[in-house]
Amino acid sequence: MNRNFPTTRLRRNRKSLFSRNLVRENKLAIEDLIYPIFVIDGENQKVAVKSMPSVHRLSVDNAIKVAVEAHKLGIPAIALFPNIESSLRTADGLEATNPNGLIPSAVRAIKKEVPELGVITDAALDPYTTHGQDGILDSNGYVINDITVAALCDQSQVCADAGADIIAPSDMMDGRVGAIRKRLDDNQRTDVQILSYAAKYASNYYGPFRDAVGSSSTLRGDKYSYQMDPANRNEAIHEVALDIAEGADMVMIKPGMPYLDIIRQVKDEFGLPTFAYQVSGEYTMLASAIENGWVDKKIILETLLCFKRAGADAIFSYFALDVARSLNN
Ligand code: PBG
Repeated sequence: MNRNFPTTRLRRNRKSLFSRNLVRENKLAIEDLIYPIFVIDGENQKVAVKSMPSVHRLSVDNAIKVAVEAHKLGIPAIALFPNIESSLRTADGLEATNPNGLIPSAVRAIKKEVPELGVITDAALDPYTTHGQDGILDSNGYVINDITVAALCDQSQVCADAGADIIAPSDMMDGRVGAIRKRLDDNQRTDVQILSYAAKYASNYYGPFRDAVGSSSTLRGDKYSYQMDPANRNEAIHEVALDIAEGADMVMIKPGMPYLDIIRQVKDEFGLPTFAYQVSGEYTMLASAIENGWVDKKIILETLLCFKRAGADAIFSYFALDVARSLNN
């Protein structure tokens, strides 16, 4: 078979739209999207997140409206993150385990209104601690693994009892997936899924998120002692393997776009549902460049498609609502 030019001309398939449509290898669908929502206390509240253009923190009544819209658009799931009053933040983040706290209340209200919409809640203490770390600290400021895992189990159970469909530990403690699985199973929550932030890197791309949940001003130190070094790839595979062995139903790679190589390798090696998080810093870079007219809005669909090409099954994105609206048209 002759595979050389001029017999072979790859531009032939690219010439017409119909042909480009036929030979396209990957596709982004609304069903691939997960929409993160920041929740605050109060009624009829909608507070802009300064570092994230067009993103707001919503009181539960407004979050319900957005959840309904997301569901109508065909988005399969939302992920809830709290910004709680500073008076409720403590060194041990105990509010995370309050069954009547902001997140469990939001979950109950949303599941009541739109039961078919998947609701994902985070397991991590950072929005609840005075120091902004994801766990409980010793006197040197080091996050104590096993004590934190016990708190994460309590937090997961409270969210599962409120009706969360998926618990997503984003804390990077060792052994937390297995411990959470056991806690859920011991409490008749065998059907609650675990989406593990399995390879979560210590990233500067999380800055705007920390603004949104109110932990950036209080964050003491860095997260290098539990989140992964951006230089490492083999370690990500090791992390994912452990989380799968501990019972993760789905695994997540985070951040997204700068880590597409990790997504591809994880998908190839394990073949499990592999999710990606287009995190706040990625969102803000794109959204602000679009706002200024420096890049075309079409860059959003391009970047999300690249996640699919890399092997992601689903993508957390703050663009999800906009994208769903435009894919529907
Ligand atoms: C905290 C958490 C973070 C994000 C999700 N859960 C920030 C962090 O680890 O400091 C980041 C999400 C984003 O940047 O959009 N456990």
